[in-house]
Amino acid sequence: MIKDAHEPVLLQESIEALNICPTGIYIDATFGRGGHSQKILQKLTTGRLICIDKDPEAIAYGQALLGQDKRVSFYHLSFEQLGDLAQSFDLERKINGILMDLGVSSPQLDKAERGFSFNKEGPLDMRMNPEVGISAKEWVKTATQHDIKWVLKHYGEEKFAGRIASFIVNLREKNPIETTLQLANIIKDAIPVYTPNKHAATKSFQAIRIFINQELSNLEKALVVSEKLLAPEGKLAIITFHSLEDRIVKKRFAGKIERPDHRLPLREDQIRLNFHVGKRQEPTQAEIDRNPRSRSAKLRVLEKISEPEDG
Ligand SMILES: C[S@@+](CC[C@H](N)C(=O)[O-])C[C@H]1O[C@@H](n2cnc3c(N)ncnc32)[C@H](O)[C@@H]1O
Repeated sequence: MIKDAHEPVLLQESIEALNICPTGIYIDATFGRGGHSQKILQKLTTGRLICIDKDPEAIAYGQALLGQDKRVSFYHLSFEQLGDLAQSFDLERKINGILMDLGVSSPQLDKAERGFSFNKEGPLDMRMNPEVGISAKEWVKTATQHDIKWVLKHYGEEKFAGRIASFIVNLREKNPIETTLQLANIIKDAIPVYTPNKHAATKSFQAIRIFINQELSNLEKALVVSEKLLAPEGKLAIITFHSLEDRIVKKRFAGKIERPDHRLPLREDQIRLNFHVGKRQEPTQAEIDRNPRSRSAKLRVLEKISEPEDG
């Protein structure tokens, strides 16, 4: 695969689920390299597509690829800021579909200089938007042992979080940790067991990336905003790559229940579901064989059926 390419995951399934109306307004909240956006555009006639990404490289790539298409507009934003955009353009309750394909793109992982990869030497950065927040290098330099352990345990489900945190804090005294391979090697040395076919730093790197980019809180906020932006029957298609993300989506849309009196059982008309939640879909074995990065992907599709309550 060339350095700037990204193979879209669950492409057919997510586009089918959006059930695109040719004159509708759609948002691709995670443009990446535009695999999903291009498919959406093929189905639009006079409709519009708003493309968002927090990575300036993704936006520059999109503008070069699709900037001539009058139906498309690009915004360098994090998706939890979608509400501000919608307000400026009066888009509340007018969006027919929103796609979120979470996580990182292949170019982000493959370019050593972005600092996401545990097997390519590069500056320890990991920010999707290098203009905002602190880099992984800064965090590893300043975080307390307790905080490092917490992040690795909660965002990476890393069994050896405590040992890794203690190795990091001891070794950074002697030598500043500035590169991806330096950190990956410290993690490898801290883990007392060897897991075949899996780099020892996989979970820790994922955890630090999730923390540095505030991925879970961005998602929680974006879901709240998306509820407000969707038109009736509008669809929200979300591709997650991590059980914590999938749990957030599931929880948010589990259905809101109005219960005037907690001592009485609910009547049918008191159960007010704002969203219909579709069955979870996963990639076929053929897709996983073709694109191993799709192996943990899960697609959930939600359809707005009534106005949500605030909150
Ligand atoms: C898996 S890629 C998307 C790939 C895309 N669907 C394609 O086919 O090329 C995820 C993208 O989402 C972006 N991203 C992640 N979190 C974001 C957020 N909070 N706001 C906006 N973009 C985000 C990343 O920068 C990355 O480009």
